[in-house]
Amino acid sequence: MGIEKESNMFRLLNAKEVNNRLNINREATTIKKLKNREIIALPRRTKRAKWNIPIFMLDFKLSKKPCEIIAIANNKGGVGKTTDSTNIAYSLAYIGKKVLLVDLDNSTGAFMDLVKGGEYIGVRNGLKHIFNEIAETGKIMSKEDIKNEIMKIELQHASLDILAGDLDLEDLYISKMENKIKTIDLVLKRMLNQFREDYDYIIVDTPPCVNKSLIMGIIASDKVIIASSPNKLSTDGMMNFINSIQSIQNQLEDNAEISMMIANQVELNTRTQSKFVSLLKDYICVQHNIKNFAIVPKDIAVQESQENTKPLLEYSPTSNAAIYLLYIATLIEGE
Ligand SMILES: Nc1ncnc2c1ncn2[C@@H]1O[C@H](COP(=O)(O)OP(=O)(O)OP(=O)(O)O)[C@@H](O)[C@H]1O
Ligand SMILES: [Mg+2]
Repeated sequence: MGIEKESNMFRLLNAKEVNNRLNINREATTIKKLKNREIIALPRRTKRAKWNIPIFMLDFKLSKKPCEIIAIANNKGGVGKTTDSTNIAYSLAYIGKKVLLVDLDNSTGAFMDLVKGGEYIGVRNGLKHIFNEIAETGKIMSKEDIKNEIMKIELQHASLDILAGDLDLEDLYISKMENKIKTIDLVLKRMLNQFREDYDYIIVDTPPCVNKSLIMGIIASDKVIIASSPNKLSTDGMMNFINSIQSIQNQLEDNAEISMMIANQVELNTRTQSKFVSLLKDYICVQHNIKNFAIVPKDIAVQESQENTKPLLEYSPTSNAAIYLLYIATLIEGE
């Protein structure tokens, strides 16, 4: 599902090719990083064919494409936005990309927890401080000053840069800014554009409602990924939400688009869920011209990794969800 793809940057090999090349027993799920560039994931054998996790091998030519700013969005809560943002960001870092993760999800503090397992270099106030400065001076901080608000987190296999959010971001700091600056929707875009030369990807986690933070996030982004869950609650009203996103994007001069839909917590063996997966993939994506559809299976390792404050690829690199999320990172990189 959504996994047949080749690009000039990486090649997906079939199981036989992988076996021939590496002589690896394909019974075990394996993620291996070879020479820092090749990554291989092999499936654990499962009963149901359609449950097979992707077999892929990546052999990057380390081509350099321009920085992409990607927002992960849905107006519904609990659909996996933060899980996807954090793990996609870490998976991209894992395959050698330089990544900044921006937290506009002011409704929870969960985001920071996910990466506490790493070693912080400096404690920073992030967006709260930047927005507060704008509220007080009417000006956006210099790039150097913004850099001082970015936290670097060293994890086991890669490092991530983080611009932290705050519970009071929307109600306090953004409202304060509104009195001082007219073009508030453009603030984040102006800030992040200055960092395009420093990062390969800037991933923006967004809140579960259409508010100023979300609008800022969409306007700042080149691409939007819709995170969803295959159930009634998540799919109801989704077309309206997508229309709102697309109408915000249409006002922009650049060609911003919704590039992907991710269905999280998928249990393909239940009939009701298959119906919703199909609704997302075959109807909503087609109607809105969303080119990529990917799933992340429901996996207890996701919650465990969060309880252990680690990205999934570190906590359980061979879990199904980790492999799918890594696979999604390669789809993003291959586009
Ligand atoms: N693939 C998965 N398998 C199992 N559990 C998952 C999976 N993806 C997400 N979850 C769980 O679902 C819950 C909600 O996820 P998450 O916080 O990422 O959603 P969210 O959309 O960011 O929510 P909010 O709108 O409140 O910010 C979490 O408890 C998370 O552990
Ligand atoms: Mg969230």
